[in-house]
Amino acid sequence: QEADKRARLLEINKEAAKYFYMLLRGERGARALSYFRKRELSDETMQKFGLGYSDQYSDDLYRYLRKKGYEDDILKESGLVSIDERRGGYDKFWNRAMFPIMDVHNKVIGFGGRVMGDGEPKYLNSPETKIFDKSRNLYGLNFARSTKKPQLLLCEGYMDVIALHQAGFDNAVASLGTALTSGHANLLKRYTKNVYLTYDSDGAGVKAALRAIPILKEVGITTKVINMKPYKDPDEFIKALGAEEYQKRIDTAENSFMFEIRILEQQYDMHDPESKTKFYNAVAEKLCTFGEKLERDNYIAAVADKYMIGIEDLRRLVNQYGAKIG
Ligand code: UTP
Ligand code: MN
Ligand code: MN
Ligand code: MN
Ligand code: MN
Repeated sequence: QEADKRARLLEINKEAAKYFYMLLRGERGARALSYFRKRELSDETMQKFGLGYSDQYSDDLYRYLRKKGYEDDILKESGLVSIDERRGGYDKFWNRAMFPIMDVHNKVIGFGGRVMGDGEPKYLNSPETKIFDKSRNLYGLNFARSTKKPQLLLCEGYMDVIALHQAGFDNAVASLGTALTSGHANLLKRYTKNVYLTYDSDGAGVKAALRAIPILKEVGITTKVINMKPYKDPDEFIKALGAEEYQKRIDTAENSFMFEIRILEQQYDMHDPESKTKFYNAVAEKLCTFGEKLERDNYIAAVADKYMIGIEDLRRLVNQYGAKIG
């Protein structure tokens, strides 16, 4: 019964993906097609990611799926349509550039839809359903799982993943309009022990990185942070500077602990001796979280080197905070 329902929901999402895909290539899809082209996506890329278009009619998908034999109850449960007492069924996505979301088995489980131009919300996403658990799926993982690259690139957005894949970085994935969860971390861990964060360079992106690092660390993933500055995100970076420059950013990605303390430092006035001392104390306390002595020593050395302070002085401070830890 339950398995049957899941199968029906997968069918509906697949039918919808094919429908949106067809609309993009039809007469009414011209504006969406030129939107994707303006964003420098090749036809091959659009095909690979199954990009589509949901048109302006408010119930065309609903009617299409009804004609295919799906009943109101299951359509409602797919999140693709709503059933209104008076109006009847109508589509969730109107006039948006459509990004089907696939699970690792290439099954469409939901959609993201972007307004073409300004408007709120910028991206509308399928709600969670019996087949769509946002915290256990990652956009692009169906492709990235077979990469030969030594790490996975974790970014914020649909367009980042697509732009990265188009530029040859077939190891890019993104969480789906939600912050990274331990569900995502456990999913990532099945495929790699190395994750490079390539979040947006704005304040929100930095905050998201600070939240993601301990979640990844918790499951034993080693994280590095890629600097996108002066660009906003990987999509814009690659458009401006290209794949070779992006590869250089991968090669020079920052150790996540060094990233964390560099951001922490911004809260202190390093020209004021008292504030500076407080910062070193905060760092020492954080250094205690490395339970392994050799690893802790390596970080103590790296921090001492970066801030040009004595290794022994820093070690003494660290020991004051966590002398007990082996
Ligand atoms: P961003 O605001 O950074 O957008 O959101 P973006 O990916 O760079 O989009 P473009 O380049 O303007 O097209 C990052 C991600 O957060 C989710 C989406 O998954 C988006 O890709 N998001 C953002 C939403 O789900 N809804 C929103 O309204 C905005
Ligand atoms: Mn429609
Ligand atoms: Mn952002
Ligand atoms: Mn973007
Ligand atoms: Mn962005």
